[in-house]
Amino acid sequence: MEVKRAKITAVGHYLPEYRLTNFELEKLVDTNDEWIRSRTGISERRILKDPDKATAYMGAEAAKEALTLANVKAEDVDLIILATVTPDYLFPATACLVQEMIGAKKAFAFDLSAACSGFLYALTTGSMYIESGRAKKVLVIGADKMSSILDYTDRSTCILFGDGAGAVLLEESTDETGIIDHIHHTEGDTECSLYQHAGGSRHPATIETVQNRQHHITQDGRAVFKKATMGMADVSLEIMEKNNLKPEDVAWLVPHQANLRIIDATAKRMGLSSEKVMINIGKYGNTTAGTIPLCLYDWKDKLNHGDNLVLAAFGGGFTWGAIYLKWGIK
Ligand code: UT7
Repeated sequence: MEVKRAKITAVGHYLPEYRLTNFELEKLVDTNDEWIRSRTGISERRILKDPDKATAYMGAEAAKEALTLANVKAEDVDLIILATVTPDYLFPATACLVQEMIGAKKAFAFDLSAACSGFLYALTTGSMYIESGRAKKVLVIGADKMSSILDYTDRSTCILFGDGAGAVLLEESTDETGIIDHIHHTEGDTECSLYQHAGGSRHPATIETVQNRQHHITQDGRAVFKKATMGMADVSLEIMEKNNLKPEDVAWLVPHQANLRIIDATAKRMGLSSEKVMINIGKYGNTTAGTIPLCLYDWKDKLNHGDNLVLAAFGGGFTWGAIYLKWGIK
């Protein structure tokens, strides 16, 4: 039986206009521009200020742009998968809201929760629908309004994250390009090194959970840093070895943007020079599920048909993984 392959045929994005700079954060918490830049690589991040807009809005805008660029009508989309940790509501799924907002009448839609690895998990899931022939057009969206769960009195987390969304359209490949391989890992973080304590069924919202600021991100930065550095570098090397890719075969590393030092360590482990690494953390910070499609969007004019890309991420869960694809847009 002939095996179908899924390929990205368009990339869209959405970034809020407001830029929250390190200098502005200096006024909110005990931090400074030099510390933030040298420890993370971040100079500014985008924040969605409009209180009436949230993750679904950003995801819908990114999806609409991808569809326009692909010249595909929303009503022809079969499936929408949206990766996020900041859904508009605990339920219904944000993907359902996007389905209505963009007018993708016949698509079924669901959310996928894998934190910073969410986009990669969703891309693999979406590609399976194309490969099996069960769907012809799949929108994969990574969108997060991180500012909605940040504690702007906690200097160890509020400096890291920003808001944004990216979306790709997946269709069947008719040539050798497309998504070739994936590796995903999970290790349940029972120590709760990276989590949002309250708001779920374990600790529903109460006056106490609000007063104790438990509806925000909490992170043991040092512990997560160690795991992320090892996890992202190991899995990137693993996918190269599995597919007999040498450093010179890889055109681009597309890494999750959590910390410039983690990205550098991954590139070094893969034997890649810094010119082959997509880095936009300086402008946007960590947009969680948004980082990888936002990189693809920013670099789309530099990518050549047939380029070998390694996408890699590590995030809460813990979840991590890598995808090897050949760029298919001409
Ligand atoms: O995307 C999902 C996965 N997440 C990640 O991959 C993030 C992983 N972790 C990290 O990127 C880093 O651990 C951080 C950027 C969060 C922190 O960097 P670090 O080099 O690990 O710093 P640290 O936590 O070891 O803190 C060093 C010092 C501490 O002070 P003392 O105890 O040495 O006096 C912190 O209190 O830096 C202090 N510090 C700050 N100082 C100024 C922590 N945050 C700040 C801050 N400004 N914003």
